[in-house]
Amino acid sequence: MVTIPTVTLNDGTAFPQLGFGTYKLQGEDGTQAIVSAIEGGYRLLDSAVNYENETEVGEAVRRSGIRDELLVTTKVPGRDHGYDETQRSARASLDRLGLDRIDLYLIHWPNPSVDRYVETFRAMIDLQRDGLVGSVGVSNFTEAMLARVIDETGVTPAVNQVEMHPYFPQQALRAFHAAHGIRTESWSPLARRSELLTEQVVNDVAAAHGVTPTQAVLRWHTQLGSTPIPKSATPARQIENADVFGFTLTDDEIAAVSGLERGRLWDGDPDTHEEM
Ligand SMILES: NC(=O)c1ccc[n+]([C@@H]2O[C@H](COP(=O)([O-])OP(=O)(O)OC[C@H]3O[C@@H](n4cnc5c(N)ncnc54)[C@H](OP(=O)(O)O)[C@@H]3O)[C@@H](O)[C@H]2O)c1
Repeated sequence: MVTIPTVTLNDGTAFPQLGFGTYKLQGEDGTQAIVSAIEGGYRLLDSAVNYENETEVGEAVRRSGIRDELLVTTKVPGRDHGYDETQRSARASLDRLGLDRIDLYLIHWPNPSVDRYVETFRAMIDLQRDGLVGSVGVSNFTEAMLARVIDETGVTPAVNQVEMHPYFPQQALRAFHAAHGIRTESWSPLARRSELLTEQVVNDVAAAHGVTPTQAVLRWHTQLGSTPIPKSATPARQIENADVFGFTLTDDEIAAVSGLERGRLWDGDPDTHEEM
């Protein structure tokens, strides 16, 4: 089992430097994959209402027998934005999870044309006050959206989970996060596989450390101060992906991998892309 180190969030929570993505993990196979990830050492689980697998995540948490060591994430979907809607959505998520607390609660997408993310965040702050939620955060927020939430609620999100991988290193947003004490979380950290793992520079860096291309990419994330949440249905890959804390990339290697920058994987620009 791998021991994944933690960092401290702006609310004092010890937060793993690497977590487990669960998109597409559903049914009994999905539950078993999540149990195997927990057995392999993952302590941060990433779910969402829209992944339709909160039941599986909750079941895996119970089967693991170590609920108190785990941080379970779920996300408010766009259709539940609004104060009362979010209060209801959180309770429905808790029912599906079968848990008494959502450890990290995120706004899945800001949906700026709806313009209800500030009141959604206010509801999350109250859910946190009432003990139903541990940490409050957001996902897919731009600097301007983060600044507005901080300004209008007085609370700085603990986490912003965003698209990040060597093709889209998010340099400016990470600098904003660092200045405000917001932890970056990387979704699709392996660029959902694509051709990233066959890139020459990734393979050269991996070979220099005797690790796999996947491990080199995930170490790049952690050294840039982000928590990647790779998803794998395969136990051997889960272990490979978590075992990235025994080597250190040089600054030049990190810069070389960041040199792959070319843009988002798909048109997931939070100013225009909306999800309900
Ligand atoms: N907030 C958001 O809007 C948002 C958006 C997208 C994703 N997410 C979250 O981020 C998580 C991760 O992103 P993702 O699932 O899109 O992509 P990802 O983690 O970048 O890539 C997952 C893919 O890589 C493969 N893979 C994993 N480890 C591997 C390894 N060691 N060697 C070779 N292939 C490997 C997996 O295949 P196998 O499963 O077959 O091993 C799967 O096809 C999601 O599961 C979800 O929790 C959030």
